[in-house]
Amino acid sequence: MLRDRLGRPLKDLRVSVTDRCNFRCFFCMPPGTKIDFLPREDLLSYEEIARIVRIMRSLGVRKVRITGGEPLVRAHLERLIELISETGVEDIALTTNGYLLPGRSGLLRSSGLRRITVSLPTLKRERFRTLACRDVDLGKVIEGIEEAKREGLEPVKINMVVIRGFNDDEILDVAEFCRERGLTLRFIEFMDVGTLNGWTLDKVVPAEEILKVLRTRYTLEEVGREDPSETSLNFRYSDTDLTVGIIASVTKPFCRNCTRIRLSADGKVFTCLFSSRGVDIKSPLRNGASDKEIEDILVKVWTHREDRYSEIRRDLIGKDIPKVEMFRVGG
Ligand code: GTP
Ligand code: 5AD
Ligand code: SF4
Ligand code: SF4
Repeated sequence: MLRDRLGRPLKDLRVSVTDRCNFRCFFCMPPGTKIDFLPREDLLSYEEIARIVRIMRSLGVRKVRITGGEPLVRAHLERLIELISETGVEDIALTTNGYLLPGRSGLLRSSGLRRITVSLPTLKRERFRTLACRDVDLGKVIEGIEEAKREGLEPVKINMVVIRGFNDDEILDVAEFCRERGLTLRFIEFMDVGTLNGWTLDKVVPAEEILKVLRTRYTLEEVGREDPSETSLNFRYSDTDLTVGIIASVTKPFCRNCTRIRLSADGKVFTCLFSSRGVDIKSPLRNGASDKEIEDILVKVWTHREDRYSEIRRDLIGKDIPKVEMFRVGG
């Protein structure tokens, strides 16, 4: 098993298939900011991604999560899922904003997708439009979620990033919505990723506060993490088998057990969401490198892994280091 300098194994791969998105969430790609999206020729092909997945699998990767931007805007995504399945990776998951999901869950599942996570930051139709900065219908996301559940992309997980003054009044409403439908909800603390999202500490609603709100209505028992490397700290409702989680990247970072590597749409690998730059593997790939040569690059990247986030690199707080946008590195 390949381990980094802190003894953490490489186990999970997050693949961003595009930096584009059909939304313009104000906390990710605020409208009005000029974003230079990647030109088509810079994107890894599905065959190239599958080759990298195969090599990563030989190094220990057991879970692949497809991200974006918005992954469902890239054409024929089902083909990539088939190719990843063929590598032998079994746990294939997708994180999506859900807008293009209606009508696709069946095909995604038959292509080899196991489970899905849909972002649902609000249940208010007008607020949803304000958030996405597009004339979008929240009903389509809800339809997509319900269809995914019917098609068995289980567990269907819901992500709610909580931003003070924007949606912190909906914690109980979203919890109830998920309880009624058997969906696994995770609340996410708003993170300081990239440079465009207007992050300030006062917009973060800490895990403790989210829990306090939940406990005004529900009895919860802490059940911890299913796997030490899981992002969310989980709680079980006393009256159901369902759990609810909190991803407390800001107030309770979980870097000590982080086993994730990220592959950007243009073929760079990042060992942390807060890395300032990635390592190019597309160029060697396109210049005829053998699998062994690609493997050697990945081994070097993981064994030299440097984290940027506060739990481990406190010395970097407040330093003017370059940042990568969430939609480029895949969240
Ligand atoms: P599971 O495989 O179901 O556990 O999903 P996940 O939580 O790993 O992935 P998802 O795409 O749903 O991410 C949920 C939130 O956690 C997003 O806001 C991600 O940006 C954030 N997240 C995912 N991985 C990491 C990580 O390694 N570090 C930090 N700080 N945040 C992460
Ligand atoms: N902090 C926390 N979560 C974020 N997301 C997007 N930007 C941020 C941020 N700055 C969430 C999305 C999606 C998930 C992949 O990441 O809402 O649910
Ligand atoms: Fe798109 Fe997700 Fe970014 Fe919103 S947060 S703009 S849905 S990539
Ligand atoms: Fe892993 Fe970096 Fe996230 Fe910490 S901040 S959990 S090291 S990706």
